[in-house]
Amino acid sequence: MTAVSGEQTRRRLRFPDGFVWGAATSAYQIEGAVDAGGRGRSIWDVYAHTPGRIVNGDHADVAADHFHRFREDVALMREFGLSAYRFSIAWPRVQPGGRGPVNEQGLDFYRRLVDALLEAGVEPYPTLFHWDLPQELQDAGGWPARDTAFRFADYAAIVAGALGDRLGHMMTLNEPWCSAFLGYGLGRHAPGIHDGRQAVAAAHHLMLGHGLAVRRLREAMPRAELGIVLNLEPHYPVSPDPADVAAARLSDGMQNRIFLDPLLRGRYPDDVVTHLSGRIDLRFLGDDDLDLISTPIDVLGVNYYRPATVAARQAPAADWSVWPGDERHEPVPATGDLTSMGWLVAPEALEELLLRLGSEYPEVPLVVTENGAAFDDLVGADGSVRDDDRIRFLERHLRAVHRVLDAGVDVRGYFVWSLLDNFEWSEGYAKRFGLVHVDFATLQRTPKLSARWYADVISGNGILDGE
Ligand code: FCB
Repeated sequence: MTAVSGEQTRRRLRFPDGFVWGAATSAYQIEGAVDAGGRGRSIWDVYAHTPGRIVNGDHADVAADHFHRFREDVALMREFGLSAYRFSIAWPRVQPGGRGPVNEQGLDFYRRLVDALLEAGVEPYPTLFHWDLPQELQDAGGWPARDTAFRFADYAAIVAGALGDRLGHMMTLNEPWCSAFLGYGLGRHAPGIHDGRQAVAAAHHLMLGHGLAVRRLREAMPRAELGIVLNLEPHYPVSPDPADVAAARLSDGMQNRIFLDPLLRGRYPDDVVTHLSGRIDLRFLGDDDLDLISTPIDVLGVNYYRPATVAARQAPAADWSVWPGDERHEPVPATGDLTSMGWLVAPEALEELLLRLGSEYPEVPLVVTENGAAFDDLVGADGSVRDDDRIRFLERHLRAVHRVLDAGVDVRGYFVWSLLDNFEWSEGYAKRFGLVHVDFATLQRTPKLSARWYADVISGNGILDGE
């Protein structure tokens, strides 16, 4: 039998008209140029240059050099037909000390980037904070200090004043769980602090900063769609044993509901408050804070990578204080279909997560603001990267999103993490998530097969269905 072209025999699983097809990055992970144009230091500059923190001693002084090569990167986005690009604005470029003088040169970079995107027909989706806190603010206490929330709102107003006229979208924070709990609790991200009290205070002040910023943004950009981006993980108990079920529920509280409920319901979840109040002095929760935190938003950004499996601890953890909640549950190492991060591939958990959000928090539309995978991409002799495992990963997750749309949940778009291979935080350059391969010695960009595949998905507004 002769092979028939796939396109003739396969139908497309189409997405709704206007569905947003994007790719995402963040400033510290791609920009480089850390000394250019008056940029200040961030906690990530300091952390990455601290020996022993990052795999191979990597740092992001050059990264993908996007600061100098953004026109080439925007040209790639146009070539792939992206409808949107999610990037972050580096606070230390715009306001080097995190308060006080504004650095116009930094704002100019983002003006040029936004103009180039608009000219290419790619809708900009900026995020104001993707973890790169100005070091001067950390020296003054960082996110555990209440004042940082007010500094963040001022910074948001500066960006809105400079760029608001040309932006239709703005996200405040990326993954406050990581800033708070990886940064101040587990110490695995900048600023590398191990202190449960600081972690919880940071989480609260991040939320407060978000709420204050939304109010300032709303004034300056009344027509823009405003939101926040959370990393949400379904937490499954390892067994039906009530102790495991309770542990999974608490860890869901400490990762997901601790952000979702104050943002969308104006209160912290009772089980989380009960759990924490026995361990931490919660007096830093100001009386009016929840009103501010729950200032209405237009969209919730969902970053999804993997689910978590949780068991009740047999014995109390040695030091609960690095991550309150931790002494009651134990993450179970994933086995099965894993990415090179060791993360379980589980598109059905994305489906379950989006369905849950649609039913428990129905008033807010959703966008998948990050989803993707690192694999050990092999570069062929001709420089090409045939990343079939990434294509399969993305395709399976897009099918999950499609099922959720069929079920009536309002999901507006999907952003692949990431446009480019980049500096993967503590993993340095060892893990590659990009649709585009970056040779970090020459900075040459080469679209992987997945980029071609994604361009086809976008042009057909859907994925090719079964054989
Ligand atoms: C998310 C981050 C993003 C990237 C991916 C792999 O948690 O938002 O910067 O590192 O993970």
